[in-house]
Amino acid sequence: MLNPRHFLDIDKCDENNLRVILSRATSIKGSEAGVDYSDLLAGRTLVMIFEKPSTRTRVSFQVAMQQLGGMVVVMGEKDSQLGRGETIADTARVLSRYADIIMMRTHDHAKLLELAAYATVPVINGLTDRSHPCQIMADIMTFEEHRGPIRDRTIAWVGDGNNVSHSWIHAASQFGFKLRLACPASLQPNEDIVSKARANGARIIIADTPEIAVKDVDLVVTDTWVSMGDANADQRRQILLPFQVNDNLMAAASDQALFMHCLPAHRGDEVTNSVMDGQQSVIWDEAENRLHAQKGVLAWSLS
Ligand code: CP
Ligand code: NVA
Repeated sequence: MLNPRHFLDIDKCDENNLRVILSRATSIKGSEAGVDYSDLLAGRTLVMIFEKPSTRTRVSFQVAMQQLGGMVVVMGEKDSQLGRGETIADTARVLSRYADIIMMRTHDHAKLLELAAYATVPVINGLTDRSHPCQIMADIMTFEEHRGPIRDRTIAWVGDGNNVSHSWIHAASQFGFKLRLACPASLQPNEDIVSKARANGARIIIADTPEIAVKDVDLVVTDTWVSMGDANADQRRQILLPFQVNDNLMAAASDQALFMHCLPAHRGDEVTNSVMDGQQSVIWDEAENRLHAQKGVLAWSLS
C-alpha cells in the first residue's frame, strides 16, 4: 500500500504540493462558474477527533465533506474509548478500517504523530499545541485573494509565539515570504522551529518591538493571548499588554496592510474592536477560506 498523504505540518509538504492544494481550493471555491465538485469525495468518510473545543475547524471540515459528497463522524476524546485509555495506535488501526481520512485536534503534537504513524489512511492536523497548518493555508489563500502572490511580501506576527505562529514560520520558507515576529521574551516561538525554518531558507526576523515588526508590512497577524491548554492566563495577559494590535499599531504599519486573526478573538485583549471591524481587517474572508482551503487539503490527501 502507498504511504498515506498526511497533512501534518506546512514544512512537511513541499511548495509544489502546497500550491496544488491552494489551486484546488481556489478552483472549488469558484465552482459556481462551472465544474460540479459535489461528487468529488462521494463515498469517502472523514473521522474527526477533538480533544479541545472548536467552532471553525469542526464546522468547516464537516461542511466541506458534505459539499464534496462525503460523510463525517465526529469523536470527542471523552465520549470515545480514547478517554478510557485505548491507545492512539490502536485507535488509528481501527479507524483506518472504517474511514478514508482522519483529522485530529489534540493537546499533544506527539499524539498526532503517533496517529499518523499507525493509521493506514491520511491524517490531517486540525491544531495541536505545536502548530495549526490548516489555518495558515486559509490565511495564505486569503492574502493572495486580496494582494496577489505572497512570495517576497512581508508579514508581521505580533503577540504570543504560539502554535499558529509556528505554522506561519513553517510557511515562510515554503511560500518564500519575509516574516517578522514581535513576542515577549518569555513567549517567543520555539527556537528549534525558527532555526529549522531558517536553515530551510526562511527569512525570519525576531523584532524587538511590535512597532519595528509592523513597519511597512503587507499583513499584520495576531492570535489569542491564552491558547487552549495554557496556564497562568492573568500573567500572560499582563506580559502581552504591550503587544495589542490597535489603531496606533496599524498606523505604524502601511495603510495597505491587511489584518488577520485565526479567531476566536478576545476583543479588547490582543486586538481592539476598531481593528477587528476596520477597513484593513479580512478576518471574515479568512474564516470562510478555512472551508475552501480544507477542501483543497481533503482532495489532495484523498487523491
Ligand atoms: N481558528 C480555529 O481553528 O478556530 P476553532 O478553534 O473555532 O476551530
Ligand atoms: N492559539 C489558539 C488558536 C485557536 C484556533 C489556541 O491554540 O487556542
